[in-house]
Amino acid sequence: MAETESGIREETTHGKIEHLRQVREQARLGGGQRRIDAQHAKGKLTARERLDLLLDPDTFVEIDKFVQHQSTAFGLENERYYGDGVVTGYGRVDGRLVYVFSQDFTVFGGSLSESHGAKICKVMDLALKNGAPMIGLNDSGGARIQEGVVSLGAYAEIFLRNVLASGVIPQISAVLGPCAGGAVYSPAMTDFTFMVEGTSFMFVTGPDVVKTVTHEVVDFEGLGGAGVHSGTSGVAHFASEDEASCLDGVRRLLSFLPSNNLDDAPLRRTADPADRMDDALNDLVPDQPTRSYDMHAVIRSVVDERDFFEVHAQFAQNIIVGFARLGGRSVGIVAQQPTVLAGVLDINASVKAARFVRFCDAFNIPLVTFVDVPGFLPGVAQEHGGIIRQGAKLLYAYCEATVPKLTVITRKAYGGAYDVMSSKHIRGDVNLAWPTAEIAVMGIEGAVNIVFRDELGSAADPDALRDQLARDYRENLANPYVAAARGYIDDVIEPRETRPRLISALEMLQNKRESNPPKKHGNIPL
Ligand code: HXC
Repeated sequence: MAETESGIREETTHGKIEHLRQVREQARLGGGQRRIDAQHAKGKLTARERLDLLLDPDTFVEIDKFVQHQSTAFGLENERYYGDGVVTGYGRVDGRLVYVFSQDFTVFGGSLSESHGAKICKVMDLALKNGAPMIGLNDSGGARIQEGVVSLGAYAEIFLRNVLASGVIPQISAVLGPCAGGAVYSPAMTDFTFMVEGTSFMFVTGPDVVKTVTHEVVDFEGLGGAGVHSGTSGVAHFASEDEASCLDGVRRLLSFLPSNNLDDAPLRRTADPADRMDDALNDLVPDQPTRSYDMHAVIRSVVDERDFFEVHAQFAQNIIVGFARLGGRSVGIVAQQPTVLAGVLDINASVKAARFVRFCDAFNIPLVTFVDVPGFLPGVAQEHGGIIRQGAKLLYAYCEATVPKLTVITRKAYGGAYDVMSSKHIRGDVNLAWPTAEIAVMGIEGAVNIVFRDELGSAADPDALRDQLARDYRENLANPYVAAARGYIDDVIEPRETRPRLISALEMLQNKRESNPPKKHGNIPL
């Protein structure tokens, strides 16, 4: 059977079909079995194995399988692979359409060429046009060195699409290998980033450059591994033990999200009764205001089937954010965590929660906020780090948000942090308080010491006076009833009633329509 120069067999229909099968098999093998074995030896899956885990069985449809690089420079003229280092297409997750790209490290280390970039842009355009989530599985040596500026241009085309799609369709990145240099900025601009412990890393400049410039000695993992980015920098929202659990996490995340900004998140029927009350909540808040309790217990007790999908679980743990359902509807939860730094708002907590609030607002996911906040964290490091500017991000995000906003004050709501945490004044729709709520300018001790400093200094029995003043403060100021008397709090409820009250509020707000003044865009303090 004769072959043409391009390798296409011309003689018979069957010959042509056989040729197609061979090409498909070559494409499936990417850079070849030797490199696939090397990939496996590193504890990593191939681009296609990852898609098999991510998508519902037999739903993946590949696009651009025949694409090859067009460059002839620097040794590329004789080495071409079908697909050019990235597998792209669409498929289903829980029956819902998603678009995907999965970089193939076995082809030029998954590096990004002009053609490789064009393939990614094509599926991003389709995702945006058709209103479905875009999921990128990243495993790449970065810009294809042999293609120079053409490769840099291809990255920029992707960055532009990340920004245009932001707030229109959910964008999710899984970093499953190297992601270095400017390449990090695509995952950074997507909504959620997953990493895998031990095999994925992200950094702008690698350990060698760091050593040259700053004389710091650090390895890949210590500079930009999953632990660093999920716990210290906050670049990654999730760190998984292995690729299977990482991709499972992507599927689980998607289950809470709408396909686009005009859609509602899927409603999931639940056997958990909407009127379920939890008596244990009435015993949760300790009598002593300085003792802590675990806010996770509140969240799990209230949401459907105790199922809470935490985002950024390792980062800024003094605030908790994540997704859950109430009466089958997706909600975004934001909550102080009294067990970590007493739930104070600091720079990282503010930035973490602000981004989450903005995501939920962009995608029609109602916000449920549990408040127990002693205020903003004092200190030189926080002030010099810009707690004013960073804290303003959270304030801005809550003010701007027009989705249904439900607030439950469980204990402290002090100072500016009271305003910030979805208060009535910034368009909180339903604001509830437990009887243990203390809503005031500051904590009892601080207030008494400032206002009555002179009296306490000259008192015969300062402790007795302090106790009396504290009682006075609690009765007249630091309780939920002063705020409730003004309508800042809609109702004071027993803690056990929280779930039914929140579900009822969500139903009441189901058709909420609120908008901000027309503008090109606001100017969030970045
Ligand atoms: C072309 C590349 C490549 C690249 C790797 N390869 N990176 N080919 N362009 N950027 C090829 C290798 O030649 C090799 O080919 C195969 O991929 C696997 O690479 P190895 O080095 O054998 O793998 P490993 O030991 O696992 O190391 C992975 C690595 C390393 C850490 C990613 O390859 C590396 O440091 N690559 C260069 C990374 C880099 O500096 N990129 C540019 C960053 S700047 P064979 O034929 O042997 O299989 C950048 C700018 C983006 O990306 C700008 C956006 C604005």
